[in-house]
Amino acid sequence: MKPAANLVLVGPMGAGKTTLGHALAERLGLHLHDLDRAVELAAGASVADLFAREGEAGFRTREKAKLAELLAGDGALVATGGGAVLDADNRRILRARGFVVYLPVDVATQLARLAGDHTRPLLARPDREQVLQDLAALRTPLYREVADLVFDTTGLAAEDAAAQLADRL
Ligand code: S3P
Repeated sequence: MKPAANLVLVGPMGAGKTTLGHALAERLGLHLHDLDRAVELAAGASVADLFAREGEAGFRTREKAKLAELLAGDGALVATGGGAVLDADNRRILRARGFVVYLPVDVATQLARLAGDHTRPLLARPDREQVLQDLAALRTPLYREVADLVFDTTGLAAEDAAAQLADRL
C-alpha cells in the first residue's frame, strides 16, 4: 500500500462498498467511514432529502467537503458513494491521499442488489437498467483513473472478500 495512505473503496451503487467496508473494518480493526452516512450525519438529513432540497449539486458540495475532511489524516477506511469520482478535485485527492480499491460490478448484479431500494435518488425512476448503464459508461473510466487496485468480489461472501483483499494490501 502507498505510504501514509487512507484505504478507500470506490465503485458504483450496489458494488458492495459498504458491505465489504464493514467486513474489512472488522478484519483490520478499523472504523469504517461511510461517506454517505457521514454527509447525512453532518447535514441532519438523508441523501434523498438533500437531493430533493438542494438538488444533486448541493449533495455533491457536501460530499466533496466530507471526503476532503475524511482523507485529511492518515489511516482511515472510507467507503465512498458511487458518484464521488465525478469531481476532478475529488479524483486528485483520492489519488494523493488514498490507496483506492475499485469494486466493479455488472448491471444485472446491481439491479438485483438494489431491488426495492428507495434511498438512492438517481434510481427513483422506472428505467433503472438504462440509468445504471449510462452511469457505468460515464464513470467506469473515472473509477479506473483513481484505482490502485481493481478487486472483483463476484461470488465472494463479504468476509471472504475482506480476507482476500486484506492479503493484497
Ligand atoms: C450515488 C450513489 C450513492 C449516494 C447517492 C448518489 C451515485 O451511494 O452517494 O445516492 O451518484 O452513484 P452508494 O454508491 O453508496 O449507493
